[in-house]
Amino acid sequence: MPSRLDGPLKVSGRAEYGADHNFPGMAYGYVVLSTIANGEIEAMDVTAAKSAPGVIGVYTPFDPLELRTPSLPMFGETWVPLQNRDVAYYGQPIGFVVAETFEQARDAAMLVDVTYRERPALTSLEDGLASAEEAPPGFDGSPQTHTLLASGVDSIEDALADSPVVVEATYSTATQNHAAMEPHSAVAVWDSGVLTIYSGNQGSDLQAMEVAGALALDPSAVHAVNPFVGGAFGGKGRTSTPAFLAAAAARALDRPIKAALSREQVFTATAGRAATVQKIALGADTDGRLIAVRHDSWCSTAMDRSFVEPTSHGTSREWYATPNLALSQKMVPLNIPPTTFMRAPGEAPGSFALESAIDELAVALNMDPIELRMRNNSTAPPGRDLQWSSKHLDECFSVGAARFGWASRSPHGRTDGDWLVGVGTATAMFPALRFPASVEVTLQADDTAVVATSGADPGTGLLTVLSLVGAESLDITPDRITPRLGDSALPPGGMSGGSTATASAGTAIMIAASKVIDDLLVVATSPGSPFQGMETSYADGHVLAGGRTMTFGEVLRAVGRPSISAIGSSAPGEEMTKHSFSSFGAQFCEVRVHKWTREARVSRMLGVFDAGRIINDKAARSQIMGGMIWGVSAALHEGLEIEPNGRMANADFAGYLLPVNADIPEVDVHFVQHPDTLHNAVGARGVGEIGTVGMAAAVANAIYNATGVRVRHIPIVIEDLL
Ligand code: MOS
Repeated sequence: MPSRLDGPLKVSGRAEYGADHNFPGMAYGYVVLSTIANGEIEAMDVTAAKSAPGVIGVYTPFDPLELRTPSLPMFGETWVPLQNRDVAYYGQPIGFVVAETFEQARDAAMLVDVTYRERPALTSLEDGLASAEEAPPGFDGSPQTHTLLASGVDSIEDALADSPVVVEATYSTATQNHAAMEPHSAVAVWDSGVLTIYSGNQGSDLQAMEVAGALALDPSAVHAVNPFVGGAFGGKGRTSTPAFLAAAAARALDRPIKAALSREQVFTATAGRAATVQKIALGADTDGRLIAVRHDSWCSTAMDRSFVEPTSHGTSREWYATPNLALSQKMVPLNIPPTTFMRAPGEAPGSFALESAIDELAVALNMDPIELRMRNNSTAPPGRDLQWSSKHLDECFSVGAARFGWASRSPHGRTDGDWLVGVGTATAMFPALRFPASVEVTLQADDTAVVATSGADPGTGLLTVLSLVGAESLDITPDRITPRLGDSALPPGGMSGGSTATASAGTAIMIAASKVIDDLLVVATSPGSPFQGMETSYADGHVLAGGRTMTFGEVLRAVGRPSISAIGSSAPGEEMTKHSFSSFGAQFCEVRVHKWTREARVSRMLGVFDAGRIINDKAARSQIMGGMIWGVSAALHEGLEIEPNGRMANADFAGYLLPVNADIPEVDVHFVQHPDTLHNAVGARGVGEIGTVGMAAAVANAIYNATGVRVRHIPIVIEDLL
């Protein structure tokens, strides 16, 4: 299987990320952050900062850079920095210092003296539960709080009361930050009225549009370039604070500006994942068939209420068959940094609660947890008529159980010397989506082809997918394809988000390739051309007719054309009215808990996934593996600690724990491949996010199996297992 085309450039340091760009006369910006969580800025004394060595400009809400609130909310958010004196969280961008060097800008930033009128801050989800608000409708416009009852049933409480077996518990998950390896950063350069912005982002055309909106420019006056992105995971969907400020300062000062957040600043000056509290009740008959599911969720949100972590919404769309279902989703506005999409938003924390509860139900029923899940396997989302286009969750579990050796599991774990050993499992699901995307395919006279789209490859492998699907669609080898992305001047590729890029761009490639082949045949048969007036066909990179063949390059050379191009576009369409679409998976893990120290170590991991056709097995396995490791991280390591005053206690890589190699065993990833051509022509459903779904619950379930201790919050720490 092909390796990533950009891999050698990345590991050898030759890939140029946003902040790697340098220009003559470039100045450096440093962002100033608030040190209170709630209140108003009364004054900012910038005298010392302005007279510090090398300082060129100091911008504050009293002397701001000109930035407009974008008229189109990008993923629900419209906030731009420095436009008013309100402080809604600790670590909010409130100033920007520009100097000749990075060190001078940073030093001067420390000299900005801020006076606040402080108000009491609400920073804890627990404390805020009493002031919870109803969540607005979900991404697809449907209400997030709703109830589905079988006929003759008056309420979900009645359905639960009539259930022979009921489990009910409250689960909670920690707030997290994407903490991408590449901190949010930007270099902005103005040249003849055009702004070029180099900044890691999940979609270059979307970034160009958003920056144009904020600077009140025509979109054609902004050029966004991001061929390499050092991780994003939803945290680089929007234009970042350094990018807004660098762009505006470059205009104000007429100099190229570079700005980057420090690692610590990334934790508050970007958006992260909400904390959640989820109350679940499951009612079943004694055979394990679900009678009622109630899932009530609360999530933290920033005071601007710009994002809801839709934990209950996931349950409604996707999970188990049940005649009675009640979901509610509330949000709790807090003085915390904004929350946003983060790898499997909704599904990641939602599956911890639901899949833990299912495991608790299996215990209550004294039933194998896989058997319980299979008895409640759905053929369509609860309450919807549209059947899944292709669902092989049962195969994921049966293949996984065999690979993992599930049959030797004991309901009470086993011991191995001083270690208590347990195994756990969970279902993974993530919706299969597609976003609008356009791709240009160009055949060139040298018998190579270019596949180009503006979108971004934030480490997902999209660049390589462009090459593979391009090669397949043109019936030539991938080494003859030059893939291009990460440039807003290319046809709009949309977002690398929602696990959509392969399905979206891939379909557009197929359309563009088929168009360009049609155009080639027209060129080849037109007057004066080698195949004039003949009935031609195309195969293997050649035009064929009457026993004669020529490569497309030979045809183009014969007619004196350097190249021929076509653009293909794809968007979700009629298929949405015919089926429901989701990917599925079965997570397995083995955890060893030390009898005396109570440390928990994951010793085996397996994920088996049904994500349609897999285009590049190697890259897909890497994506899934990263997701599964993130699930272990959520279960055992990762969580931001917010102090009562709103300051994050562990906003660095010393305190914000992430698994390292020593924490992770071999990760076994397996795909059951059933191409889903009802969803899109490529048959792929995307693997970016599903890998993390369910994994945290599988870890917690394995810990229960090993120790008999049910921990209903993540991350799980030693103290929970004493
Ligand atoms: Mo993702 S959370 O769709 O970038």
